[in-house]
Amino acid sequence: MYVYPRRVRRCQIVPLFATCFLLCLMIFWGPLDESNIVGHMKSYSYRYLINSYSFVNESLSVNRDSLERGTGYQYLINHKEKCQGQDVLLLLFVKTAPQNYHRRDAIRQTWGNEKYVHYYLRTNIKTLFVLGQPSNLTQRDQQQRRLQAEDKMYGDLIQQDFLDTFYNLTHKLLLQFSWVNKFCPHAKFVMSADDDIFIHMPNLVAYLQNLAQIGVQNLWIGRVHRGAPPVRDKKSKYYVPYDMYPWLAYPDYTAGAAYVISSDVAAKVYEASLTLNSSLYIDDVFMGLCANKMGIVPQHHLFFSGEGKAPYHPCIYNKMMTSHGHVEDLHYLWKQATDPKVKNVSSGIWGTVYCRIVNIMLLCKLYYQDTYPCLAAFS
Ligand SMILES: *[C@@H]1O[C@H](CO)[C@@H](O)[C@H](O)[C@H]1NC(C)=O
Ligand SMILES: *[C@@H]1O[C@H](CO)[C@@H](O)[C@H](O)[C@H]1NC(C)=O
Ligand SMILES: *[C@@H]1O[C@H](CO)[C@@H](O)[C@H](O)[C@H]1NC(C)=O
Ligand SMILES: *[C@@H]1O[C@H](CO)[C@@H](O)[C@H](O)[C@H]1NC(C)=O
Ligand SMILES: *[C@@H]1O[C@H](CO)[C@@H](O)[C@H](O)[C@H]1NC(C)=O
Repeated sequence: MYVYPRRVRRCQIVPLFATCFLLCLMIFWGPLDESNIVGHMKSYSYRYLINSYSFVNESLSVNRDSLERGTGYQYLINHKEKCQGQDVLLLLFVKTAPQNYHRRDAIRQTWGNEKYVHYYLRTNIKTLFVLGQPSNLTQRDQQQRRLQAEDKMYGDLIQQDFLDTFYNLTHKLLLQFSWVNKFCPHAKFVMSADDDIFIHMPNLVAYLQNLAQIGVQNLWIGRVHRGAPPVRDKKSKYYVPYDMYPWLAYPDYTAGAAYVISSDVAAKVYEASLTLNSSLYIDDVFMGLCANKMGIVPQHHLFFSGEGKAPYHPCIYNKMMTSHGHVEDLHYLWKQATDPKVKNVSSGIWGTVYCRIVNIMLLCKLYYQDTYPCLAAFS
């Protein structure tokens, strides 16, 4: 085939130019880099060019005997019997803080409702709220009594005696993985979720039932972060010092707000968590390190939302899995999104065409919105 020499040269000039430009940016901009653009470029380059984290594995490994974990924190509230003697499709952990009584109530009445799932979807889910101890000293005893009373009523809290704070989130993660391995290893899937999200349980259950039928393994889905750099700004909540994690990028991981794993992954991650230094307090990243050590790779699901709320529309409800930032509108959204009539909107050829157009209009915006990607409109 004949190719114009001039065109070839022009084609090569563009990437060459871009590379020089990026290098210059990295070198000259580094010291003044406020929004960490250079950090992101370095971490993405690392992620897409090298993508090996074996050194992380080696350097964070600890001697198993040196940390008898699991004996570290004691249960204050537990329900060992929760899963016993029944098939469980999904074990749902909701990470919550002691004072979020109203959020827990709302979740019990909507997406975390075991009876709803049993009655309408004809399968079993088990919902457990995961907590530490109230962190406010002056209110601790009173809050703890209130939690005991709440648990007496619903029987769905599990609590260990670490303080429930942001920097103890990795302990909360370890609590979940140790619990599922001890008390519910037969659950087919495990989900970890925040208490300010919305889960479209009928859609999720249908999806997981399909996967269970084909006996899926190595499943880890959610909103995947690829090539995320550690935050080095000391003012940030997510600041991670160099001696805790010295490398350019984290291995791929799913946002902690909501992810689903299959039971074999739960067992492997638990195994790895016993051999890695758990001082890294960003729980979803720590989970990523554990999974990476076991060679498990997360998969992006288009309808797991980012930080943003999904648009309110029947064409979206039809496919949505999770959406973020729902507290006041949880009941409203649950009612709207799980209404059986929602399915009618998108049924038939005209329904499909209509919903395709609506979803493109809702999701493919010129500005960035952290909900579902534009690609989701075409799925
Ligand atoms: C603990 O609770 C008390 C009483 O409600 C409140 O005045 C105080 O600010 C709280 N302390 C912290 C650290 O949140
Ligand atoms: C985590 O919990 C432990 C045990 O209660 C406590 O000693 C520690 O201060 C907590 N850490 C943070 C950062 O809150
Ligand atoms: C875990 O890492 C921290 C630094 O982030 C270090 O201080 C600690 O000694 C390590 N623990 C073990 C058991 O190696
Ligand atoms: C992680 O390190 C352990 C030994 O510390 C090794 O057996 C294992 O194969 C390593 N895993 C990966 C994915 O490199
Ligand atoms: C929705 O569809 C079902 C059957 O698919 C039908 O029975 C029902 O009447 C429809 N509802 C509306 C509001 O169109």
